Amino acid sequence: MPRLGEVAEPVAGPGEVVLAVRATAINRADLLQVRGRYPPPQGESGVPGLEAAGEIVSVGSGVEGWRPGDRAAALLAGGGHAQRVAVPAGQLLALPRGWSVEEAAALPEAALTAWTNLVVEGVLVAGQTVLISGASGGVGIVAVQLARELGAHVLVAGRDPERLERLRELGAEGVFPLADDLPSRVRAATGGRGVDLVLDLVGGAQLGRLLAALGARGRLVLVGLVAGRRAELDLELVLRQRLRLVGSVLRSRSRGEKAELVAGFLAFAAPLLALRRLVPVVERSFEFGRIAEAYAHLEVGRPFGKVVVRIDD
Ligand SMILES: NC(=O)c1ccc[n+]([C@@H]2O[C@H](COP(=O)([O-])OP(=O)(O)OC[C@H]3O[C@@H](n4cnc5c(N)ncnc54)[C@H](OP(=O)(O)O)[C@@H]3O)[C@@H](O)[C@H]2O)c1
Repeated sequence: MPRLGEVAEPVAGPGEVVLAVRATAINRADLLQVRGRYPPPQGESGVPGLEAAGEIVSVGSGVEGWRPGDRAAALLAGGGHAQRVAVPAGQLLALPRGWSVEEAAALPEAALTAWTNLVVEGVLVAGQTVLISGASGGVGIVAVQLARELGAHVLVAGRDPERLERLRELGAEGVFPLADDLPSRVRAATGGRGVDLVLDLVGGAQLGRLLAALGARGRLVLVGLVAGRRAELDLELVLRQRLRLVGSVLRSRSRGEKAELVAGFLAFAAPLLALRRLVPVVERSFEFGRIAEAYAHLEVGRPFGKVVVRIDD
């Protein structure tokens, strides 16, 4: 379980800023990290926390466009569950006007995961259809909105479709149970074609069903393994339909690659953030002193959206 402690105050190295964290969010990677099952990438903070928002308090050499006092959210390789964190400047996102600091803290990991995997890995374009599994979570909710804004048709699947009904107002056009008949139901909903892209946020045994919901030359981007790490696949289907199966991890990517992703995301999404057409759902917010409860809530509370922690100065 996570525990609070003292660590050395971070210093802004070249190309970095130090952020005074006012809010941070919990991710499944943090749950694994505190159990010793997902160590941070080499050279990164050993403190968990993949995203945060607050004010910049110091700026390292070579940083342009950011000053102390600016409010920002940050995509992190770690270190966000603390009062201060050092952030490569390319991983900062200006706090959208009208957003709470909690909403801003809940944005970077979900939004950049959705962006990378829908757009860069999944090559989703307007008019195509995407099926998102595990859509009731932090990443899924933002992915539904982003896919809608890309002009795609959005279908969602989960073990409890009733929970997914809420996603219709965010753009989901179809809601399906993750069951044996998923491929036939999805085909029926797509005029027999199947979907162009599956964004699989859960993995596990139902991967074969998701693959069978793809149309010819469809892509499946595997992002999460919350439902398990083993699956049995019909490889004949993969050949016959000329499918592509892509695995994707954000955290271990280089700072340069993350900066490119953040810039690409903001070029498309900044106006949508300002209009609140793309906004994470903060399911619950905890005080910093109760961060262990926040971890437990993500693990067993089945939140619909993000779990956030507020840090008062
Ligand atoms: N590869 C990457 O770079 C990357 C980045 C960020 C996140 N991730 C991973 O992506 C996944 C989603 O992240 P998140 O932040 O959205 O997590 P989250 O908020 O915890 O949401 C988890 C989702 O998975 C579903 N789920 C949980 N257990 C399931 C099971 N046994 N079978 C089917 N569905 C199940 C939940 O649905 P219910 O409504 O049914 O509970 C919910 O929709 C996680 O596995 C996370 O680790 C990967």
